[in-house]
Amino acid sequence: MRMRGRRLLPIVLSLLIIVLLCFSYISNHLRDSSSLPVDSDEFLLQLHDETPSVPGLRAPAGPLLNLTDFDYLLPSDVCRHVDKELLAVLIVTSYAGHDSLRAAHRQAITQSKLAEMGLQRVFLLAALPLREHFFTQAQVINEQTRFGDLLQGNFVEDYRNLSYKHVMGLRWAAGECEGRTKFIIKLDDDIIYDVFHLRRYLESLEVSQPALATSSTLLAGYVLDAKPPIRLQANKWYVTRQEYPHTLYPAYLSGWLYITNVPTAARLVAEAERVSIFWIDDTWVTGVVRARLGIPLERHNDWYSANSEFLDCCVRDLKQYSFECEYSVGPNGDNAKLLIEFLHHVEKCYFDECTKRPAGKSLKNTCVAAAKSRVPEHGLAQVKPLQLR
Ligand SMILES: *[C@@H]1O[C@H](CO)[C@@H](O)[C@H](O)[C@H]1NC(C)=O
Ligand SMILES: *[C@@H]1O[C@H](CO)[C@@H](O)[C@H](O)[C@H]1NC(C)=O
Repeated sequence: MRMRGRRLLPIVLSLLIIVLLCFSYISNHLRDSSSLPVDSDEFLLQLHDETPSVPGLRAPAGPLLNLTDFDYLLPSDVCRHVDKELLAVLIVTSYAGHDSLRAAHRQAITQSKLAEMGLQRVFLLAALPLREHFFTQAQVINEQTRFGDLLQGNFVEDYRNLSYKHVMGLRWAAGECEGRTKFIIKLDDDIIYDVFHLRRYLESLEVSQPALATSSTLLAGYVLDAKPPIRLQANKWYVTRQEYPHTLYPAYLSGWLYITNVPTAARLVAEAERVSIFWIDDTWVTGVVRARLGIPLERHNDWYSANSEFLDCCVRDLKQYSFECEYSVGPNGDNAKLLIEFLHHVEKCYFDECTKRPAGKSLKNTCVAAAKSRVPEHGLAQVKPLQLR
């Protein structure tokens, strides 16, 4: 017994030392994290300082198109945490300062409710520009701590940088979610969408074309056929002949919302690396890049309304008469709350509690916005008043 006790002593001592070491390591780390940097520049500096000295920390994401120093300011592990294959991951392009729009998305449908439907949502952000005075990186970090649904690249937010954001999202989804999701839905943060309709559509695809999730190509949404570039200098979407020399764009999908799958996203991302970048992101990714791969577009234009007023009327009629909405996707018309109301009221239609809109009572006849007819295309928003008849 005495002999065994003596042999045990060194073991007990070394265990004690290990425990002490762990304790001091943990308390050091607690101290580090309690002094979390609040200033975004300081935060970036710290990231750069710490990356090389901490082995085993996340490797840099690597170049993105011609951004050689691309990395994530905030990575996302949303897909790593799924234990059962998802039906779809939603990537939502969002200006970093649009926290209230993201709040509306979360209020309209929570991540846990999405998870019950086999869905997950990630917002795609870039770095806040210096001119942003109302929102800070500390707030973005705080949002990530609370919700964990952000993916932020280190390039600067700008509508002329949307192609980077678009490819960042597809690359992330194709890489991180490979084998973990069947489909990818790309949408903008100012879009209203009937998530129940989309789920039903994807579930029907799963049954009718099971290969779609693994091997076949899929690009489905609002198809814009052979549109000419806007050559009016005063327009926000003005495109020079250097940027795009041809008279027409190839057919492309509106970036408002479209559906793809992992293999298609991976091919688009790989091909995008071989083409010089063009800043109108949906035209470039689902038009120019897609056309080089010969991937066909699947047309679902009847899902889309360009009038936020129609969706507003839909909510009104859903409340009052439980009429089904004729549309599943459209702009929010600068009303962040519309998405909340729309999803709240449209859900009952998936429990067979709605009726078809009676003939003669179409939205076009009963909604005041009928005079406007826009399509989900860049540039037309600017000429909207002229189109009123
Ligand atoms: C990337 O390419 C675009 C378009 O050709 C160009 O305007 C931009 O300056 C390039 N950016 C970098 C970091 O090289
Ligand atoms: C796009 O991002 C790059 C990299 O962060 C930045 O240098 C550039 O100014 C941004 N472009 C615009 C038009 O803001």
